[in-house]
Amino acid sequence: MIVGFIGSGNMAAAMARGWAGAEADAPTQMLFTDSGSGRATALAAEVGGEAVETNEELVERSDFVVLAVKPAALDGVAASLPTPRAVLSLLGATPLSVLASHFPESTVIRLMPNLAVEVRTGVICMADPEGADQEIVAESHTLLGSIATVYELPDEQMDVATAVMGCSPAYFAVVAAALGQEGASGGLEPDVAIRMVGESMAGTAELLRKRTPFEIETAVASPGGSTEAGLEALAAAGGAEAFRRAYEASIARMRGA
Ligand SMILES: NC(=O)c1ccc[n+]([C@@H]2O[C@H](COP(=O)([O-])OP(=O)(O)OC[C@H]3O[C@@H](n4cnc5c(N)ncnc54)[C@H](OP(=O)(O)O)[C@@H]3O)[C@@H](O)[C@H]2O)c1
Repeated sequence: MIVGFIGSGNMAAAMARGWAGAEADAPTQMLFTDSGSGRATALAAEVGGEAVETNEELVERSDFVVLAVKPAALDGVAASLPTPRAVLSLLGATPLSVLASHFPESTVIRLMPNLAVEVRTGVICMADPEGADQEIVAESHTLLGSIATVYELPDEQMDVATAVMGCSPAYFAVVAAALGQEGASGGLEPDVAIRMVGESMAGTAELLRKRTPFEIETAVASPGGSTEAGLEALAAAGGAEAFRRAYEASIARMRGA
C-alpha cells in the first residue's frame, strides 16, 4: 500500500515514524507534501519516504491519501486535487458530511489519532465507516492497527473522543512536567525524575486495563498516608475540576465557541 501524506507536520510525522518502525502491516511506501516549509523533505529523509512536488502528484501515486493539514486548509487543498482512491482525514472537528462534500467520488474515512501512534501504542478513533467501501475499510484497519488501537465510533462522538484521547497526551505531559520539576527541585536528576514519572504513568496505564481509577486511587492512598495528603492538596487546588474545564474548553473550541 502506498500512503501519501498531504501535510508533514506533527501528526503526519507521528504516524509516519510509527509506520517506519512497525514490523508488519506498514505502508510499502510513504509520500509527503507540505506548503513550502521543507518539512516534507526532512520527514521523508527521516522515515525513508519520498517528498513529492505537488499534492496532485501525491494523490495520483497513492492508494491512501492522509489528509494531515489544519482544518482551515481543507477548502484550498481539496479544490486542486484529482480524485483520491481513499482519503484518511485527520482533521479535527470536521464531520464526515463536510469531508464527503469535498471528496464526493472517493472513499473517505474520518480518523482522530493521538500522538502515541509514533511509538505504536496510539489510539485512533474512526467515525463509523458504514456505507464506505468495505475493502478499503478493512485495509485501513490493517494499516492503522499496526500503530494504534482502533475504536469505531458514531461520527457525532468524534469531538468528545478528541477531547478525551486526542488532547490528553498534552495533559499527561503537563502532569509529567509538574511532578518532574518537583522531583528535580527535591534533588533528583531532572531526566531521571521525568523518566520515573513516565514509567509510573505507563504502569498506571497498564493497571487501568485491569482496575478502575477508583480502585487504583484507594489502593495507593492509605488513610492518613502521604498520597492521601497529596490528593487532598490536589483537590483543594482544583484537581479533577481542572481536567473537566480542560475538556469543556476543548469541546467549545471544536464547536466554534
Ligand atoms: N497534533 C496532534 O496531536 C493532532 C491530533 C489529532 C489530530 N490532529 C489533526 O491533524 C491535522 C494536522 O495537525 P498537525 O498538528 O500535524 O499540524 P501542523 O504541525 O501545523 O502540520 C500541518 C501541515 O500541513 C501542511 N500544509 C498546509 N497547507 C498545505 C497544502 N496546501 N499542501 C500541503 N501541505 C500543506 C503544513 O505545511 P508546512 O510544513 O509547509 O507549514 C504542515 O506540514 C489537523 O487537522 C489536526 O486537527 C492533530
